[in-house]
Amino acid sequence: MTLDPNHNYSNAALRIGDVDRYPRRRVGEFIGIVASNAGVNDEYRHIVVKVHEQALKAYAGQMFHLLCPSPDGAEVWMRRPMSVYRVDKAAGAVEFLYKIEGRGTRGMGKLQPGDEFNIAGPLGAGFKLEPAWKNIVVLGRGVGLATLAPLSQLAAEQGVGVTAILSARHQGVVMSKALFEELGARTVTVLDSDGTSAVENVERVIEELIAARKADAFFTCGSNRLLKLTQRLGKKHNIPGQVAMEQIMVCGFGACYVCMRTFEVDGKRVLRRVCREGPVFNMQEAVGW
Ligand code: FES
Repeated sequence: MTLDPNHNYSNAALRIGDVDRYPRRRVGEFIGIVASNAGVNDEYRHIVVKVHEQALKAYAGQMFHLLCPSPDGAEVWMRRPMSVYRVDKAAGAVEFLYKIEGRGTRGMGKLQPGDEFNIAGPLGAGFKLEPAWKNIVVLGRGVGLATLAPLSQLAAEQGVGVTAILSARHQGVVMSKALFEELGARTVTVLDSDGTSAVENVERVIEELIAARKADAFFTCGSNRLLKLTQRLGKKHNIPGQVAMEQIMVCGFGACYVCMRTFEVDGKRVLRRVCREGPVFNMQEAVGW
């Protein structure tokens, strides 16, 4: 590709207050301003980024591709895909909950209020709520709960009841409980440390919800065990569900095919791009992690 030497390509990204010359486009590149970036528990951090209004179109289950700053002066080559934790339209901000695991998130952890942060998106197909669903069950573990948290916002807007089963190693790393409860969800915490996260116990909790007609659909992310459990109970009781898949990505918009995963559709194995056809899929078609 030949670049035009007279064009300022960095101007393609929208800053707060810019006039968008292509307001109907679904995806854009944005220069946000960090409002806060702080630790929430032993392992996770929460960043709030003020953004152009176009970026606030993101919905539950979608992600942004983040241009993380370098933590050490050397280049960070790839953007990092990250699902949206919350869209706060009133504050004009998108929020992410993340764990520092590599150089990109290490650089992200160093961002200070007032710093610029380049994000591209929103990308992918997120969660959908069917009008017939009056009560849903959300089950997740670890950072998967950050992906599921915006569902409580979507459900609250549509008058749908939510029971969130929050699975974690111990109480110190339970994720998103406050946000689920703030938006009206009932939460059930299950832990490895006291044995309540065992599949048999979670199954008992879900069976009680099914008996009480509180489980019109399942939503899960972050645990193969929980996916297998909801697939089994979904088949047994004919309850539909959706799963948000996690996967390594490069381009984030369907061009490189790095993020392919196997799915089983009508008895046949098929490959799909998590970034483009997902990251949210029919729970029964997912083969798991
Ligand atoms: Fe490139 Fe999905 S990350 S196709």
